[in-house]
Amino acid sequence: MSEGKSVIQIGMIGFGNVGQGVYRLLEKNRALIEAKVGAQLRIKKIAVKDLTKQRDVTVPEGMLTANYDDLVSDPDIDVIVELMGGLEPARTYLLDAMKKGKHIVTANKAVLSVHWDEIIATARQNKVDIYFEAAVCGGIPVIQAINDGLAPNNIMSIYGIVNGTTNFILQKMTEEKKSFKEALQMAQKKGLAEADPTLDINGMDAAHKLAILASLAFSKRVKVEDIYVEGIDRITLQDIEFAREEFGRVVKLFAIAEVEGDELEVRVHPTLIPQEHLLAKVDGEYNGVLVTGDFVGTTMYYGLGAGNKPTASAVMSDLIYVCRSVSDNVAGEISNCWFLSDNPQIKRLRKIGEIKSRYYLKFSVLDQVGVLSAIARILGEHQISIASVIQKEQKKGDKVPVVIVTYEALEKNVQEALKKINGLPFVQEETLLIRMDRGE
Ligand code: HSE
Repeated sequence: MSEGKSVIQIGMIGFGNVGQGVYRLLEKNRALIEAKVGAQLRIKKIAVKDLTKQRDVTVPEGMLTANYDDLVSDPDIDVIVELMGGLEPARTYLLDAMKKGKHIVTANKAVLSVHWDEIIATARQNKVDIYFEAAVCGGIPVIQAINDGLAPNNIMSIYGIVNGTTNFILQKMTEEKKSFKEALQMAQKKGLAEADPTLDINGMDAAHKLAILASLAFSKRVKVEDIYVEGIDRITLQDIEFAREEFGRVVKLFAIAEVEGDELEVRVHPTLIPQEHLLAKVDGEYNGVLVTGDFVGTTMYYGLGAGNKPTASAVMSDLIYVCRSVSDNVAGEISNCWFLSDNPQIKRLRKIGEIKSRYYLKFSVLDQVGVLSAIARILGEHQISIASVIQKEQKKGDKVPVVIVTYEALEKNVQEALKKINGLPFVQEETLLIRMDRGE
């Protein structure tokens, strides 16, 4: 083996919250990090959109550039750390950098999940490393666990809270009675939310992460569009309180991937889980993931899923791997993920209509004779059995919430029944459906 490098040069794209966190972490723990790598780490250039922007971290004169080409065309730069996020120009920059022989560390779940095939193939063709621990669950080493620690297992299921912003919002609504809007603003202030927070709220950020986790865990390419996605935008404080007081459950935005026979279910949606469930205790910006393998059983990963410090920790852990490989002159020689691309044991992905679950259905109806029996009749006609019914008498107005919890039913039947019920004259708003999932 020929001599590796004693100084590894790094180019960073993006210097927002996480980028500045990475810079600070390297400054603070440099001695430890370099001892682990066996070489010095030098951030040579940082590409940013706006050179004049006020930043909390001051870097040496000339380190910032507005020209990304200054990084990829610099033959001295060994590793590119991409922290700009989004699809383009991130995709182009990453592909370009790999074609020029740069190793990659990225926290960009959107680009990875959408352009996975192209990015992984380009890394292999160009014999470069690509690491992406920070793309999923912030500081929790869940990618490493799935890739390495659980490698010999057939993974049976993943149940996870993988978005810190929505988990934080749900907690603030529950415990501090904050409005949805206030709670979102707090999450943004803490640096948890995406640049476009609708991606957090509508479940897409969680879907990006699930696509990556499921592709790795099941050795089957799971595309974002394969995932059924619902966000938390229709959940109200009233639902959170009903769930807790009447059913002893809490609402979590769940990312689920589960094998049944030769089929795989992949979905992201609010889920009512029992208060005693392990993941019910995962609050605020924390994430938690349960991964079950056929030999290992159920394992759990827990930690801060968003925010600059934990995410910087994940980026730096990848950098330590890559830089050590560069230093040992083996970078790009060994693929870092066991992505086998087509697991023959999984024949198809199950559609949302084919899943079975218990359901929390909140009907908003006029308080008049015959309403409940009309709803019950339609549910019965669709083979949906009722487990409990709650109607809270309202002091004013004639619109009341009626909550029905069902026994396990086929989703397709539930959706068809709701379509009919929503068309009834006494129904005042579209019925809210929350799945009360297995994962228990
Ligand atoms: N917006 C993301 C979240 C950041 O809230 O989880 C971490 O990926």
